[in-house]
Amino acid sequence: ILDQPRLHFLQGDIADSAAVAEAIAGCQAVVNFAAETHVDRSLLEPAAFVQTNVWGTMVLLEHALRAGVQSLLHVSTDEVYGEILIGRARETDPLHPRNPYAASKAAAEHFVFSYWTSYRLPVLVTRGCNTYGPYQHPEKFIPLAITNLLTGEPIPVYGDGFQERDWLYVEDHCRAIWTVLVHGKPGQAYNIGASQHRPNIAVARSIVHLLGADPASIVHVSDRPGHDRRYAVDWSKLAALGWAPRTPFEDGLARTIAWYRSRPDWWTARRDAAFAAYYARNYRDRETPVTQP
Ligand code: DAU
Repeated sequence: ILDQPRLHFLQGDIADSAAVAEAIAGCQAVVNFAAETHVDRSLLEPAAFVQTNVWGTMVLLEHALRAGVQSLLHVSTDEVYGEILIGRARETDPLHPRNPYAASKAAAEHFVFSYWTSYRLPVLVTRGCNTYGPYQHPEKFIPLAITNLLTGEPIPVYGDGFQERDWLYVEDHCRAIWTVLVHGKPGQAYNIGASQHRPNIAVARSIVHLLGADPASIVHVSDRPGHDRRYAVDWSKLAALGWAPRTPFEDGLARTIAWYRSRPDWWTARRDAAFAAYYARNYRDRETPVTQP
């Protein structure tokens, strides 16, 4: 899409004030997707999450205020509520993040809402559930499982595999963000859910089935420290704006598998780099101590 005349692409770091100032000039609306997103990596390198997710958000808020943008939508996560063992979290529930990634996202949200209360910057926040589809980094569970099977590796399932996630297809998530941007009320948060909960072990079995792989290629490995057992959000506030997910999980999964099958050119180097950088490392044995970024 880079040759589209209506697109202006700038590559920069959200924590780089000069780059953000340049990018924001003339914008009416800003949607902040920029983040460090992988929980396992946040357990190894938490400082990077503070730098990008908290400080980067601060830089963006300051420039949005100065530039007088009419709307700033901040993409957050359902992980800010912490694990929800029973029922579903509502937007008014207290935040209780339990890993460094989730803590950085909750901290960022507090800054976002403080700019609404203190300066009336028109902000919106979305708290989305687990998302999957084409172009997802192969560090995440579904693309990791698919690309592992495609390269003859097993699927590593953490612990007993009965942790539960709600799976939303990427295009449904994009439409949800658009709906909130256009119809949301400034100063408000909106949950985005799919109501398609699956235990991880069931997701792994579906991927094995769709790829025609050997069921023995699912292996249980040691659990993620502080692993949240279940996330679940009540998304009726967003439904009232006219949004609903359209993609059944099994359809979205089949489309996703087809995409990864056809695009090893996109994922091979990314997967190798992630594996070399941190995937094989031990959480309790950090190579470098935490230092201020
Ligand atoms: O809930 C929304 C969040 O979903 C987003 O805010 C995060 O940015 C995103 O990374 C995701 O967090 P999770 O930790 O839930 O996603 P992940 O794909 O890393 O893991 C999904 C589940 O699968 C989780 O219970 C851990 C498990 N898992 C993950 C990996 C990478 C495994 O069992 N084995 C694995 O190798």
